[in-house]
Amino acid sequence: MGEITNVTEYQAIAKQKLPKMVYDYYASGAEDEWTLAENRNAFSRILFRPRILIDVSRIDMTTTILGFKISMPIMIAPTAMQKMAHPEGEYATARAASAAGTIMTLSSWATSSVEEVASTGPGIRFFQLYVYRDRNVVAQLVRRAERAGFKAIALTVDTPRLGRREADIKNRFTLPPFLTLKNFEGLDLGKMDKADDSGLASYVAGQIDRTLSWKDVKWLQTITSMPILVKGVLTAEDARIAVQNGAAGIIVSNHGARQLDYVPATIMALEEVVKAAQGRVPVFLDGGVRRGTDVFKALALGASGIFIGRPVLFSLAAEGEAGVRKVLQMLREEFELTMALSGCRSLSEITRNHIVTDWDVPRLLPPARL
Ligand code: FNR
Repeated sequence: MGEITNVTEYQAIAKQKLPKMVYDYYASGAEDEWTLAENRNAFSRILFRPRILIDVSRIDMTTTILGFKISMPIMIAPTAMQKMAHPEGEYATARAASAAGTIMTLSSWATSSVEEVASTGPGIRFFQLYVYRDRNVVAQLVRRAERAGFKAIALTVDTPRLGRREADIKNRFTLPPFLTLKNFEGLDLGKMDKADDSGLASYVAGQIDRTLSWKDVKWLQTITSMPILVKGVLTAEDARIAVQNGAAGIIVSNHGARQLDYVPATIMALEEVVKAAQGRVPVFLDGGVRRGTDVFKALALGASGIFIGRPVLFSLAAEGEAGVRKVLQMLREEFELTMALSGCRSLSEITRNHIVTDWDVPRLLPPARL
């Protein structure tokens, strides 16, 4: 195998190494996977307007997220069940994020607990929350995350039911028997069993609260002092309501195209959300970010930072902690190069004028027939 020179190359290696059921769970999107392809394709409809003859001998990529200083605006999204990718799973991801000086978001459905991840050492970490029907379970888990030193809650709001991922249905996807959803170990909750369908879809149907609404966002603020990021916003309408309901930030996300198919690419939805937020809360993006140029485009459209999902799983499968470190390093270097070649020395110098999107230019009409 030759040298790995970009983030995307880890996917093919992961596909070779992982059992089919696991690879398919990580890779797939919902239904026709139109949004899955679109999350990538949309980035290619944004081009640069680079500025020249600016002294770019020093580039500063540092930023502050919810008051925490990090090395770059590239963070790790919550992805479930990382020990299926590598025996060290979430530990490896936590160590790699910490070494890179950035934030890891731990999934509710991790195969390592909040306490175990905290025990890997220092690091700024967020906790992703799925709201269970049993609110005692939720309250307990949030308190445990806070006690373990997690700094924010990413409340996932796009999953009242699981999206239809056909590969998981065909494979009868379920967690391998030697692993557990560690945050719920010992609690009297249903387990993820082999079902006649995706085992995860059945588990969600049984455990996750479909009644979740804005009043629960308010309720969460009464049980924790951690700031709450609303993850899964795609419209200006919901961005406004999120701000009104006390969200500390918004994550523009379509869950890696795994929930509702035919929603737009997140990079296409970003700008309307940024405008609606009116600078009152930071707006983040995840979905299809695979290059430093993608990071730059998101920031130019007003994002305060981005999160990556699948690249972490695929690099973890290929090389464990070293793989995740390499992914963060490659994205960092590509982003730094993009800044230099566009004439930006700090994140605040990245502006909307550094890019042009194909929706900026009104399409030329076909010539009128006389
Ligand atoms: C996810 N995602 C996710 N989101 C969440 O809030 N809780 C979770 O447990 C998971 N689990 C999960 C598993 C897998 C295998 C994937 C691919 C994704 C969604 C994730 O946080 C993020 O929104 C997307 O992964 C971002 O898109 P990319 O970077 O994977 O294209």
